[in-house]
Amino acid sequence: MRLFAEFTKFLLAGFGAIVILLSVAVLIVMPRMRWNATARPSPAENWIAGHVLTAWVSMNASREHNPIPATPENLRDGQRVYEQHCAVCHGLGGNAQNLLGGDFYPPVISLNDGLTGWSDGALFFIVSSGIRMTAMPAFGTKHSAYELWNVILWIRHLPRLTADERAAIQARIENRNVDELLH
Ligand code: HEC
Repeated sequence: MRLFAEFTKFLLAGFGAIVILLSVAVLIVMPRMRWNATARPSPAENWIAGHVLTAWVSMNASREHNPIPATPENLRDGQRVYEQHCAVCHGLGGNAQNLLGGDFYPPVISLNDGLTGWSDGALFFIVSSGIRMTAMPAFGTKHSAYELWNVILWIRHLPRLTADERAAIQARIENRNVDELLH
């Protein structure tokens, strides 16, 4: 009985200490941190976020391959979806130069490198679910699976744009009318 009472006291003291520490963190430390979107995430934050994202995606993504073949027509449809819904943040050529002229935290990811690490099922899962606490929206509720598979064809194609495709995109980037870029 005595032991139980001691143990309860110990637990309550531990709980009290945690509440005090959390209050100090939220009320005093956190407001003094940098919350501006121009800051760059620290290596520790990058590591933790990268690890959690990869594990979450691999636990939930399907093992499906893209059911849509990379024909010129399908690529064109994918490009259209990309330019209407993704280019504003990821840039017309996928290089993360957003068309808003603003900074994001965490920063927008370039789709020109690093995508090879994700399977088709993983990309589908990311694009359809979005990524919480980042600007990456979920497209799964308002877009058909067909549109999402098409856009995945296009983002896989971005690192391999032909010289003509690259030149056409560059010409449109130089045309600074965003409305025109997006329609
Ligand atoms: C409002 C801005 C915004 C829009 C619009 C947007 N994204 Fe993103 N996207 C982001 C940000 C920010 C990240 C980085 C999230 C992070 O740090 O984990 C991201 C991450 C991703 C990733 C993960 C890349 C990786 O290697 O981790 C993929 C894939 C992706 N976006 C595809 C798309 C596609 C396809 C579309 C359009 C259908 C799209 N995004 C539209 C902001 C956006």
